[in-house]
Amino acid sequence: MKKLYLLLLIFTLQLSLYSETISSPSGKITLEFVLKNNGAPSYSLKFENDQIIKFSSLGLTLKNLPSLTDGFEIVKMEKAAFNESWEPVWGEVKSIRNHYNELCVTLRKSDQQNQTLVIRFRVFDDGAGFRYEFPDKGFLTYFTVTGEKTEFALTGNHTAFWIPGDYDTNEYFYHTTRLSEVDALRGNDIHEIGTKTVIAKNAVQTPLMLKSDNGYYINIFEAAVNDYTAMHLLIDQKTFVLTSQLVPDAQGDMAHLQTPCKTPWRTIIVSKNAEDILSSKMVLNLNEPCKFEDVSWIKPQKYVGIWWEMHVGKSSWNYGDTGNIKLKTMDWKALKPNGRHGATTANAKRFIDFAAAHGFDGVLIEGWNVGWEDWWGNQKEEVFDFVTPYPDFDVEYLSRYAKEKGVKIIMHHETSSSVTNYERRLPEAIDFMKKYGYNTVKTGYVGRIIPRGEFHDGQWMVNHYTRVAEKLGENKIMVNSHESVRLSGLHRTYPNWLAAEAARGNEFNAWSRGNPPDHETILPFTRLMGGPMDYTPGIFRIKMSEWFPDKKEQVHTTLAKQLALYVTMYSPLQMAADLPEVYEKHLDAFQFIKDVAVDWDDTKILDAEPGDYIAIARKAKGKDDWFLGAITDENERTMEFELSFLEAGKKYEAVIYRDSDDAHWQKNPVAYAIEKKTVDSGSKLRVKLAASGGAAIHFSMKNR
Ligand code: NOJ
Ligand code: CA
Repeated sequence: MKKLYLLLLIFTLQLSLYSETISSPSGKITLEFVLKNNGAPSYSLKFENDQIIKFSSLGLTLKNLPSLTDGFEIVKMEKAAFNESWEPVWGEVKSIRNHYNELCVTLRKSDQQNQTLVIRFRVFDDGAGFRYEFPDKGFLTYFTVTGEKTEFALTGNHTAFWIPGDYDTNEYFYHTTRLSEVDALRGNDIHEIGTKTVIAKNAVQTPLMLKSDNGYYINIFEAAVNDYTAMHLLIDQKTFVLTSQLVPDAQGDMAHLQTPCKTPWRTIIVSKNAEDILSSKMVLNLNEPCKFEDVSWIKPQKYVGIWWEMHVGKSSWNYGDTGNIKLKTMDWKALKPNGRHGATTANAKRFIDFAAAHGFDGVLIEGWNVGWEDWWGNQKEEVFDFVTPYPDFDVEYLSRYAKEKGVKIIMHHETSSSVTNYERRLPEAIDFMKKYGYNTVKTGYVGRIIPRGEFHDGQWMVNHYTRVAEKLGENKIMVNSHESVRLSGLHRTYPNWLAAEAARGNEFNAWSRGNPPDHETILPFTRLMGGPMDYTPGIFRIKMSEWFPDKKEQVHTTLAKQLALYVTMYSPLQMAADLPEVYEKHLDAFQFIKDVAVDWDDTKILDAEPGDYIAIARKAKGKDDWFLGAITDENERTMEFELSFLEAGKKYEAVIYRDSDDAHWQKNPVAYAIEKKTVDSGSKLRVKLAASGGAAIHFSMKNR
């Protein structure tokens, strides 16, 4: 007995020797680091007294080198506190507080040339982040990561809002199931996606949104993914331990690094309120400050474009009628026009006029350049050169015309994933943009990546997207990347990276089974945790049969919900995605899109539940106007809002764009009503949202 007692004592002493806790500034969240007996690092996380993450392993495996998972001893543990505020170039709020306590653990493998590994933990009031750092000491210089053993041991079979883990795409719709029920190979949407590399039945993507039975909202993600690869998660469906699954390169390795270096942050955001997840700024706070000194040229913007008409089949990207002829070289002059080309000088002019008349900043024009006759699916390296317009697109004239009208044309670089080709041609493409006054480019990566064997979200591509953002930034050009890796807060460092697609956008509603009614209530809790999405809201012609009678597809929302998305789906780049002729029939509702801001001083998450509903109010940057957006899933619901966010003592006119009483996303989606009311900060507003409906409200201050 005595012996056992002694043993226990030694054991606890040893444990306590190798453990350290650190709490968030308010003390609400506590992280404990423990170096186990075998020298394996681990951590756990608590919210007040509730366990959120049980003891979970940390570490990495390396190619032809000892693993960094165990056999460590502690060299030192250092604590620090940090509290500052910073102003983003654009954002949901004017000023962001970065307030955390840090624990930095330096570990050493004494039997292995004293190889050192640093694990840096930061604990905020809304969660924790940690990363691995590799100082320039020990056996590491050049090294290859073959896997990460980072675990997130959950306390139960939580509800998960998930999409399949995939190395190439995130354009899936979300499933809501228990962790034990995840089956990433099951989803029918898998068949709607051209280029995909699904990992395994139990693999899901990050950001992963979870809800526990005891009422916690937990979001697991990563921040500052740069010179590394994106992280997915493998679920142990019996123990509910999640393990990191990195995206490999063409050789099956995860990352090639050189010391000194570091991994991205692994992040856990946790709260008892879903609203706090949406207002968390932790991912941004864990990113590096802005790299550019002069940011005066970076501008949030609204745009229209020659775009949706191709997605609904009204016109084509390609100019030539090629039939089955596959073009081997870029000899596009031999082409005969197909008569359906969208990006003609006349059509571009029409869009420029429309943008100018309604106060839009930009006009996206896709299909302006040669190459679209045979652009995708054949792993061809030479497709687009990014500088040769089709013969019916007069770039010289249009750039002059747009300038006169005070509108910018947005460049489109579809790379068809021939990334080697794009990198080679980018300098010339940049010169072309500068010559013709383009200040924003939409890039795209449809198809399998060249260099062949690389994936969209692997280290090589991650570095490519950053390199492009950096190069464009040096030339004062903004970027919106489609099919790229999802943002992980990198837009703090490169604020010219206005948005990315990297999720299932509105376009899927034009040509697939579409986005289910709960889709937009989940995206802010998942994809948008890393940064803005170019979702392209604003579709007013909901049923595609109005374009072509035999088309069955439709947008899975009401018209009013399309308006609300400008507020609920934060982005400094917002498209009014439908066509001028459609908006001209609904100029009253279109007014909201014209008025809504794209840059904000303040944001209040009024009400939110992933998969069910979201209501957000935002104050326009430098103005007294507030905008409120509320959306619901397939269930109709009545929401009531206290308007305490309005300035006390002032009267506001509220213009309410809402679903009509008989609106329904499927049966009657275009039925909306517009009402005006005078309100103040003491008022309450009650709005009924139809099934997959929404409400959008513009508050403007009276007699300011
Ligand atoms: C897919 C993009 O998401 C879409 O916006 C674009 O129109 C097409 N690729 C063509 O580049
Ligand atoms: Ca896409």
